[in-house]
Amino acid sequence: MIAGMDAEMDYSAPPYDQWDSAQPYGQWDHARRHCPVIREEGFSLTEDPALPRFTVTTFDNADQVLRDWRSFSASINGEVMRPYMGELMLGLDGDEHRRYRNLVAYAFRRSTLERWRGELVEPVIETLLDAIAPAGRADLVDQVTSKFPVQVICGIVGVPTTDHEQFNDWAMRINYGPLYPEEGRAASQAMRDYLEPLVEARRTEPTGDLLSELVHAEIDGARLTDEKIYGFLRLLLPAGAETTYRAFGSCLLALLERPEAMSRVLADRSLVPAAVEETLRWETSVTMVARVATTDIEIGGCPVPAGSSVSIINGSASRDEARWADPAEWDLDREPQQHMAFGTGPHQCLGMHLARMELEVGINAVLDRLPNLRLDPGADTPVISGYAFRGPQELPVLFDPS
Ligand code: HEM
Repeated sequence: MIAGMDAEMDYSAPPYDQWDSAQPYGQWDHARRHCPVIREEGFSLTEDPALPRFTVTTFDNADQVLRDWRSFSASINGEVMRPYMGELMLGLDGDEHRRYRNLVAYAFRRSTLERWRGELVEPVIETLLDAIAPAGRADLVDQVTSKFPVQVICGIVGVPTTDHEQFNDWAMRINYGPLYPEEGRAASQAMRDYLEPLVEARRTEPTGDLLSELVHAEIDGARLTDEKIYGFLRLLLPAGAETTYRAFGSCLLALLERPEAMSRVLADRSLVPAAVEETLRWETSVTMVARVATTDIEIGGCPVPAGSSVSIINGSASRDEARWADPAEWDLDREPQQHMAFGTGPHQCLGMHLARMELEVGINAVLDRLPNLRLDPGADTPVISGYAFRGPQELPVLFDPS
């Protein structure tokens, strides 16, 4: 079906105040079958409101757009956030992006990250579980998942434990900068003022944390400018905390709703990575990313004029029935193959190995520490919801106190 020709379904986004409770998969499932590339007038993400916006819903089309960085620029990501985050890796293309990414990538390699597992990730989750284990009941979102990745990232960066909450507060205000510009700019400056003495201290005395690596990283004589260091640090919490905590909640809920799968995973922990990977495919926490066409081009037979904004629904791409049978089903035994939760191409998630490690450590710890874990039958049944970011808002559970 040629894009934009099906008018029987309303494909538009919900109003912002309904994004947290939205259930868009019905819309996207319909689009994949009937109108895989949606063209909308008057919803441009760019500064020129006259240009159309396109929404891409299938795996192959998403793959094409995300890999072809020459025809589909990521600059659109920088435009909105630059006043608050500064120099943003997510908004650069080509060599400039590659050089920046290479300088920070070392810290996020699977092998480099292993040291954090025992030093940081396990102690953080254990401390959070210590606080709830005697109670026999908890809201796992409020008390565990939402607190876990923030503390891990702060630990990796080298922010003192006592300052986690302040750092997280600035990160939230920076993220909401486009809606509340004055607060966003103030938080951006406050975070920089706070980090400056830490960065200067690491220049003279490296301590093995991420700050130390960033100030000393050098490839072919190139180093990160201060603007890039602060830009990267401002991006890390929004990119790595909300995304991972929501995915953690979705993975726990997938298991809690499927007692048979839960028993198998409890008995055989080598199945935890499969549970994590299937959750990322089935209910990614980041459902969409954006690009702008730099040239007149086609996506799936649909003409896309230069300058148009393109929303790539990676959540929908990971449920493409051309690639997975019964894609809306969560299936622990599914043959693994690449999904789109972490995107693809040059901007593929830098933190994906960290996210997977946190999720695997987190799931194992919850299963070890909270025996007889089950959903609280007296509370509302939790659901995964959200438009751009998805996860359960609450996860009320019961377990045997210990
Ligand atoms: C389940 C958790 C996560 C999900 C679903 C996720 C998803 C994504 C996606 C879809 C992108 C591509 C954006 C684009 O193409 O425009 C991305 C990029 C990125 N992610 Fe993640 N992410 C997760 C966790 C993390 C973590 C833990 C970190 C780091 C602490 C992180 C850091 C980044 C960075 C720095 C980029 C930009 C890479 C670049 O521009 O080259 N993410 N992520």
